[in-house]
Amino acid sequence: TRDTGIVVAVDGTSGSGKSSTCRAVASRLGLRYLDTGAMYRAMTWWILEQGIDVHEASTVAARSGEPQIVSGTDPSGPTIHVDGRDVGVEIRSDRVTGAVSPVSTVPEVRARLVDLQRAEIAAGLQGAGIVVEGRDIGSVVAPEAPVKLYLTADPAARAARRAAEEGGSDVAATEQSLRSRDAIDSGRAVSPLTMAEGAVHLDTTSYTLEEVVDQVVALVEAQEAAT
Ligand code: DC
Repeated sequence: TRDTGIVVAVDGTSGSGKSSTCRAVASRLGLRYLDTGAMYRAMTWWILEQGIDVHEASTVAARSGEPQIVSGTDPSGPTIHVDGRDVGVEIRSDRVTGAVSPVSTVPEVRARLVDLQRAEIAAGLQGAGIVVEGRDIGSVVAPEAPVKLYLTADPAARAARRAAEEGGSDVAATEQSLRSRDAIDSGRAVSPLTMAEGAVHLDTTSYTLEEVVDQVVALVEAQEAAT
C-alpha cells in the first residue's frame, strides 16, 4: 500500500461526462475533486468583469496574477470563489463559455493556474487523494499521476446529452459549439488537449454514467492493489 494519497488525472473533451464521472468516482473512493476547467472559467469571468478584451493576450497576461481564485474540493459540492465571491453559477454562462478559450491559451494564465492546481493536489495527497479533471492534467499538471484517463464521446451523443441536461436547448447548435471548443482545445500551441503518456482511453458514447464510474473505480482500485 502507498503511504500517501492517490492522484487520478482525467482529461478529455467537453461534454464527455468528465465532471459527473469525476465527482462520482471521488465520492465513491473518498477522494477530493478538483475541476480545473472551473478555474479557467473563473479567471475568464474576472477578466470580463474588469472590462478587459479577452483577445488582448498581453493585457490578460499582465493582469492574470490579480484575482484570488479558490477552489472547494468536496466532490459532493465543489465550489469556486474569486476574491471571496462565489461564482459557481456565473462561470457557466454563455458569455464565459464563449470567452474561455482565448484566455486559456495565455501562458501566464496557465502558469498561474497550474501552480494553484499543484497546491490543491499536494493538499489532497495529505488525505486519501484527489481526482483532477481538465485538458492537460496527465500531460502537464500531474504527469506522475499513477492513474490517467482520457475520456471522449461522440460529438452528436455529447450534444444530445448536454441538451438534455440544459433542458431542451438546440442540439445542432450545441454540437457545433462542442466541436468548435474541441478544435480550439486540441489545436492550441500551449498545453493542447492530448492523450497523455500512459493514459487509458475510455470512449463513453455507449455507456451510462454509472457504467463509466464503475470502470474508473475498478481501474483506480486495481492500481491501488498493485502498489
Ligand atoms: O472543462 P470545461 O469545459 O469547464 O473547461 C473550460 C475551458 O477551459 C475549456 O474550453 C478549455 C479550458 N481548460 C484548459 O485549457 N485546461 C484545463 N486543464 C481545463 C480547462
